[in-house]
Order: sequence, then structure tokens, then C-alpha cells
Amino acid sequence: MSSFGSAAASRLAGKTVLITGASSGIGKATAYLFAEASGGEVTLVLTARRVAVLDSIKADIEAKYPKTKVFPIGLDVSKLAEIDSFVENLPEGAKDIDVLVNNAGMVHGTEQVGEILQADIDIMFQTNVFGLIALTQKIIPIFKAKGKGDIVNLGSIAGREPYPGGAIYCATKAAVKSFTETLRKELIATRIRIIEVDPGQVETEFSVVRFRGDKSKADAVYKGVEPLIAEDIAEVIVFAVSRRENTIIADTLVFPNHQASALIMHRKA
Ligand SMILES: NC(=O)c1ccc[n+]([C@@H]2O[C@H](COP(=O)([O-])OP(=O)(O)OC[C@H]3O[C@@H](n4cnc5c(N)ncnc54)[C@H](OP(=O)(O)O)[C@@H]3O)[C@@H](O)[C@H]2O)c1
Repeated sequence: MSSFGSAAASRLAGKTVLITGASSGIGKATAYLFAEASGGEVTLVLTARRVAVLDSIKADIEAKYPKTKVFPIGLDVSKLAEIDSFVENLPEGAKDIDVLVNNAGMVHGTEQVGEILQADIDIMFQTNVFGLIALTQKIIPIFKAKGKGDIVNLGSIAGREPYPGGAIYCATKAAVKSFTETLRKELIATRIRIIEVDPGQVETEFSVVRFRGDKSKADAVYKGVEPLIAEDIAEVIVFAVSRRENTIIADTLVFPNHQASALIMHRKA
């Protein structure tokens, strides 16, 4: 391993990393990369609603990285009561969280204001904003008690640049950005690092969820372009967490090559 890679590995060694939305896409890729980049020397607390998927990810990661311990735990972040009991009932070996990756998030639909279903507004805010805030509130006391810890919040280009048909999703990610910046300022006197990663277009299950399972509509989003893959964002997350403790990669916007803003994209015919 290069000295660059081994420095990262030694900084990650022994850490316990809690990832929300670890059953798919960016969260799943981040779980694998923490195991790899630490030389297997991490504990992963992987959460999502699809526990059976988490169970198979645990089996796969523990087979590839025998020193890595994986705790797969069902957690629906849109249900605030679940967050309370989740943190209170973390199993032995998983309680001492060092890194929280607030990754669980979703978008529903492309309707414009006046046509948006209230249920979609509720689930986007409950998942992307209220869940993220509630879990952060529960983890901050753990970090304050030990004087350090890392929080990585997944924002989006959508939180910087709202676009037609994305009013609610964009508002949720703008809320994440505002919350994240406040937190960094409030924690200035601690060694707690607050990190935001804002992806552009990444091909995951994200668009399939947006179009309620309609794969052909999801595929059309990526027609003529080469989107990022989940591993690209995982690299940025793991890079940020594996810097020297004095370094905060505070806020990162990550595009694929063809993208220059939320809607400005170069598409091949
Ligand atoms: N893909 C993009 O283009 C893009 C761009 C910018 C930002 N992002 C952000 O990146 C993050 C990850 O998205 P992704 O692209 O990896 O999408 P994805 O493949 O759809 O993964 C989303 C993850 O979130 C979980 N999740 C959704 N609702 C949840 C809930 N109520 N409780 C717990 N977990 C929940 C899902 O797991 P379960 O279904 O098993 O619960 C899944 O593991 C999101 O915050 C998204 O907004 C994505």
C-alpha cells in the first residue's frame, strides 16, 4: 500500500462507522470502501429499511474483509420513534460511533408546485431532513462526550441550484446544507468534523425511486451521458474522513464530466 494509502488506513483503523441508506447506491459503496481503505480494520453499522439486503452485504463484506465486523440493523429514518430506539439499543460493539454518514435520502416525482402529492412532500422531508436531523441530534452527544467524531451529510447539486420539477427535493437538500453549516459553526470549539458532499448525477436506484419503479423513465435520465457511479462518491466520503484530524473537507460538489449545473448537461445524440 502507498504511504498515502497507508496513512489513510491508519487514520481509519479502529473506527466505528454508521451509514444510513447502506442497502444501495452511495451508502452501500461507502460501506465497502471503508472496509477496503482501512485494511479491514473498521466496524460498520449498516442501516436501511431492507434488512435482508443488509444481511447479504454483511456476509459479503465479512467474507472479503475478515477483520471487519458488520452490524446490519433495520432503521427507517422517516420514523422518528425508530431513531430513538435505534440509538438506545445499539448492540455491544456498535455503540461507540466515530463516523456518521447521513446518506439515506430519496426523491419522488417531477411534478411542479400545485400538483405535488402531500404524501410525497411528507416522505421527502421526513426522510431527507427530519430523519437526518433526528439521528444527528442523537449522535452529537456521543461525539461531544469523546470530543471528536465525523458527520458526513449527503447534500446534492439540488440543494445549491433548485430546478423546475424538483421543488421539494431541492428544498430538502437546501435544508440539509443550512443545517450542516450551522452545525459546523456550533461545533467550532470541538474536534468534531462536519462534512458535506454534494453529488451531481450518479446512477444508482435514485431515479428508479423518483419514477416509482419505472426503469425506462429512469434509464432516459442517463441517455447520452455518462453519470458518476456510487463508488465515485464513496471515494470522496472516505477521502474526507481519512484526512488528518485537523483537516475538514467541508463542502464538496462532485459532477460527472458532462455536467456543469443541475440542468446544464452535454448529451451525445
Ligand atoms: N444519485 C444521485 O444522482 C444523487 C445526487 C445527489 C445526491 N444524492 C443523494 O445521495 C444519497 C444516496 O442516494 P443514492 O443515489 O445512493 O440512492 P439509492 O440507490 O436509491 O439509495 C438510497 C438509500 O437510502 C435508503 N433509504 C431511503 N429511504 C429510507 C428511509 N426512510 N429510511 C432508511 N433508509 C432509507 C435506501 O434503503 P432502503 O430502501 O433499503 O431503506 C437506500 O439504501 C441520497 O441522500 C440522495 O439524495 C444522490
